[in-house]
Amino acid sequence: MKILGISAHYHDSAAALVVDGAPACAVQEERLSRHKNDAGFPIGAIEWCLDQAGLAPADLDAVVFYERSMLKFDRILTCALRAFPRSWRSFPQAMKNSLGDKVWVRGIISSYLGVPRRKILCTDHHAAHAAASFLAAPTRRAAILTADGVGEWATLTVGHGERRPDGTTNLTLLREIRYPHSLGLLYSTFTAYLGFKVNEDEYKVMGLAAYGRPTMVDRVRTLVRGTPDGAFALAPEFFEYQTTAARSYSSRFIDLFGAPRHPHEPIDLETDEGRRFADCAASVQQVLEDRLVDIARALHQESGLSDLCLGGGVALNCLANARILAESGFARVFVPPAPGDAGCALGAALYADRVYFHNPDRDVPDHPFWGPPVDARELARAAREDGQAVEELDDATLIERAADELAAGRIVGWMDGACEFGPRALGHRSILAAPHAREMRDRLNRDVKYREEFRPFAPVVPIDVADRYFDLPPGGPRLARFMSGVFPVRPEWRDRLAAITHVDGSARAQVLEREMAPRLYALLEAFGRRGGIPILLNTSFNTAGEPIVCRALEGYSTFRRCGLDALVAAPVFVTKRGSSRMKPLKEEAA
Ligand SMILES: [Fe+2]
Repeated sequence: MKILGISAHYHDSAAALVVDGAPACAVQEERLSRHKNDAGFPIGAIEWCLDQAGLAPADLDAVVFYERSMLKFDRILTCALRAFPRSWRSFPQAMKNSLGDKVWVRGIISSYLGVPRRKILCTDHHAAHAAASFLAAPTRRAAILTADGVGEWATLTVGHGERRPDGTTNLTLLREIRYPHSLGLLYSTFTAYLGFKVNEDEYKVMGLAAYGRPTMVDRVRTLVRGTPDGAFALAPEFFEYQTTAARSYSSRFIDLFGAPRHPHEPIDLETDEGRRFADCAASVQQVLEDRLVDIARALHQESGLSDLCLGGGVALNCLANARILAESGFARVFVPPAPGDAGCALGAALYADRVYFHNPDRDVPDHPFWGPPVDARELARAAREDGQAVEELDDATLIERAADELAAGRIVGWMDGACEFGPRALGHRSILAAPHAREMRDRLNRDVKYREEFRPFAPVVPIDVADRYFDLPPGGPRLARFMSGVFPVRPEWRDRLAAITHVDGSARAQVLEREMAPRLYALLEAFGRRGGIPILLNTSFNTAGEPIVCRALEGYSTFRRCGLDALVAAPVFVTKRGSSRMKPLKEEAA
């Protein structure tokens, strides 16, 4: 059975194809259109998926959309009417922004693809989040917790899933918290207040939190209070997202926290104002974590299960994930590589396959590499035409050569096989560098990524030695498989891992198994033989404001425009002419 999943029209559109119960391919529209967080109908992603699998639209058994548009329409209409007349200005805007073409989604899909309407299905939005997490995780029974800004009405759900020995699947969402009460929207409101882009820059709030102290926790708690049933409710007088599209926080919010930050003002942590913003980020971060831990702990007690699958955009919050693992009682916490709305394309397709069509259970390969492959010949051609130094090397030589460059303090663009599905570069579209010196972090921020100084970089480490450098709890390596947790760097290594150690001593480590990315694993080993520490700084292969590179030419164009010294897509190795060499690495064997 061939099922196409689609997420679209909110942010980060995507398509995914499931064939005979297993993912065949999946890609976000932004990777192809080159428009970051492209929310348009993902026609490019759909065409690529069909091409890749050698299918025509007529071959599809079903097309599944990742939410029920009419329910969302119902929510927007109901909220606008409840808030009338305050909302009358915002209603047309809300229709345009939040809904767009979605009400007519069946007709749109049918006309774009020429698929008859009877083949077009919709899932509940949080069922798609739950399926993206549970059905792709290597567990047979798990509790499920999803949390995001908002879907149709739900903003958080709890439930459980079971892949039974007879091949049938159960996925049940037991309870939900409904709009306007939303942890995702609470966090997004602070994201906007702190001058960052909503639905895009939430991770900057998380990064900034490490520089602050949670001095305003009590104030944030007045915004979100616990309810007797273990859920929570937001105090509506502090928020305006229900009534206007112009601003998500109210003047009472400003009375409580002070003037908001202007997006173009730099955050200067030497000033009272800068520290206030950092304290604000630390405070909302702590309250978010506390609420999630409470809900997860109650779910653990209720379900008696040892595994938890997390889904929804809130599961991108690595600090919260790590605390859930440490404090909720679950032994293992699974977060998929694409827990946000893009991942719902795959989730919706898997949900339809297992639950709607009752197809037999299958293991889903445990990796994120479902996107377009890199064409090394295309890279070689472009680099040669441009007069760069191009070598074609066998794998062993290529890895040693890349390790030499990295040990010499050079920054390497690394493209390998299929593009990652989801927001993280996990070793197939990465920028790699030595992890030792703080100057490397600053150089990357300044010359390569063009981004704020307070943003940390992540390390990638082989699973066999991860525990030596990072304080990983039981279950930590699993959470770190797709870079979904933040863990302490062991104090004795922090000075020698300064480029990847955040100001609070933590790192968002990717713990790598050889089978997931064998070439990168070999590179880590080769790098370790040179400096003693088999860890590399691994950041996404893009510059600020651009999507992660997908194809060879985008990698090459980025390489030419920023301070990368070398670019690798096996077997091709490109060295930038005139690239400066930093001081060689001086790490004694550990
Ligand atoms: Fe969502």
